[in-house]
Amino acid sequence: MDTAVNPATLAAAIPKAELHIHIEGSLEPELIFALAQRNGVKLAYPDVQALREAYAFTNLQSFLDIYYAGASVLLHEADFHDMAWAYFLRAKADNVAHTEIFFDPQTHTARGVPMASVVRGLASACERAHGELGISSALILCFLRHLSEQDALDTLEAALPLREHFIGVGLDSSEVGHPPSKFSRVFARCRELGLRVVAHAGEEGPPEYIWEALDDLKAERIDHGVRSLEDPALVAELARRRTPLTVCPLSNLKLCVVKDLADHPMKRLLDAGLCATVNSDDPAYFGGYLNANFVRTVQALDLSREDVITLARNSFEASFVSDTRRQELMALLEAATG
Ligand code: ADE
Ligand code: ZN
Repeated sequence: MDTAVNPATLAAAIPKAELHIHIEGSLEPELIFALAQRNGVKLAYPDVQALREAYAFTNLQSFLDIYYAGASVLLHEADFHDMAWAYFLRAKADNVAHTEIFFDPQTHTARGVPMASVVRGLASACERAHGELGISSALILCFLRHLSEQDALDTLEAALPLREHFIGVGLDSSEVGHPPSKFSRVFARCRELGLRVVAHAGEEGPPEYIWEALDDLKAERIDHGVRSLEDPALVAELARRRTPLTVCPLSNLKLCVVKDLADHPMKRLLDAGLCATVNSDDPAYFGGYLNANFVRTVQALDLSREDVITLARNSFEASFVSDTRRQELMALLEAATG
């Protein structure tokens, strides 16, 4: 691509991987209301506009309360398929070539939805996206950290008959007060099973939680990790291990982790030599999909063309694809950037 193209335009145009997207966080208000009507579920808001107006969050928990309420409209396999398909269409528009998608089964099984409906609905959308859109993808099952480790162990057992459909596990939901070490046994079991492991840490929680995710859970990627900058020894260790951080700038802004995007640590993470990536987290709630995250961050921090290419390269390096697919993705990027 023409080297005169500005970095924000370049960021939107190039192929990228998205590695931190909660599929339940891609449910747009219009689809929430359509599914509520289809399934006869009563919502606490009268219409789309009232729901959207409630998206004024002060911290992670204020968001999670609304996010779990939104997910209550998902009952059947087709609902999970339709939600994921809507995300894939948005991802295609943003030049996402590969995506690794989080899902929260406990949010659904606690309401009586069978695990198989959740996993099969999502997996069929992934297959369709490969066939119709050329997007490769994988599913990552997340444990809710505000629940007990026993609940996570039971969830893992319930998911094992569907093992072929997911590549790994993660840890999400309310961070503070629920350190990664609470889940040491279930993550050890997941590693024995050959599952890839990632964990949210250092979004609102302290750097100690990132150390625990690395040392107790043996997390291969840290989701968020923005508070790592408070601990220079941790930054050095993340750089030494080349542990990727899946950073979500618009999420950090909407959940008041940063006051202004101009204060966002993304540039400092890159300058520290970390494998940082850009992601959308819960795009229907936070004001933008992947390209909006790239464009607004590039503009707010005045990121360079080189920074943008590094971020796209990092997304492919950090992904759990095969070596062959990684080479393909890197070649696509090379062709798009010249
Ligand atoms: N679940 C969905 N989005 C999340 C986030 N940003 N942090 C923790 N759990 C989440
Ligand atoms: Zn997240």
